[in-house]
Amino acid sequence: MENEKYPNMVYDDRMWDLIRSKLGENIERVLELGSRYGHWVEGLLENFTIDRIYCIDFWKKCRWRWAKEWFERLEPHVFETVFPLRGQSHEWAEIRLLGDFDLLYVDANHKSEEVFRDLKCWYPRVRSGGLIICHDCHATKVLNPVMKFFRNLRREITDRPTLFDSGPDHEKSCWIVKR
Ligand SMILES: C[S@@+](CC[C@H](N)C(=O)[O-])C[C@H]1O[C@@H](n2cnc3c(N)ncnc32)[C@H](O)[C@@H]1O
Repeated sequence: MENEKYPNMVYDDRMWDLIRSKLGENIERVLELGSRYGHWVEGLLENFTIDRIYCIDFWKKCRWRWAKEWFERLEPHVFETVFPLRGQSHEWAEIRLLGDFDLLYVDANHKSEEVFRDLKCWYPRVRSGGLIICHDCHATKVLNPVMKFFRNLRREITDRPTLFDSGPDHEKSCWIVKR
């Protein structure tokens, strides 16, 4: 199912329905790793009431032009609900004052070791009963570290991981895990 608003993006209503079924309507704290254009966060804000969203990205390749798009897209919410954190995802994990999260969305560097590192750094900061969504799991370099990471944790996981399969060539799949 293609999303008319963002033809290249993942986010159709099934994604929001799935999140709703796991977390309900009101979500307190969200962390997005890899925020680039802010597409996912925009969709999230259209569908949920959220207290606070942190978006980590180094916006490096993006230069100003792309970060500008992020600001414009999320403008009414920036520094109210949505906070950009510029830098490396694993480095921000050292900042404890960010607190813990109800929802973690992993969509930064897609190299296997980086995906694994992001999960290792940030999974402990997801509250019990919170949700972890790993984007781009159609790619084995992403799916393999995700499965490896959660295989080691299966006793902690509340319910069975869900593969959210989307896009004409399944190129928009997400692995969704409830802690
Ligand atoms: C696929 S895009 C994210 C798309 C975004 N989720 C959206 O909905 O618009 C990946 C982003 O991750 C960022 N990124 C890659 N590695 C990173 C890292 N180690 N730390 C922070 N950001 C990173 C890149 O700068 C890029 O903007």
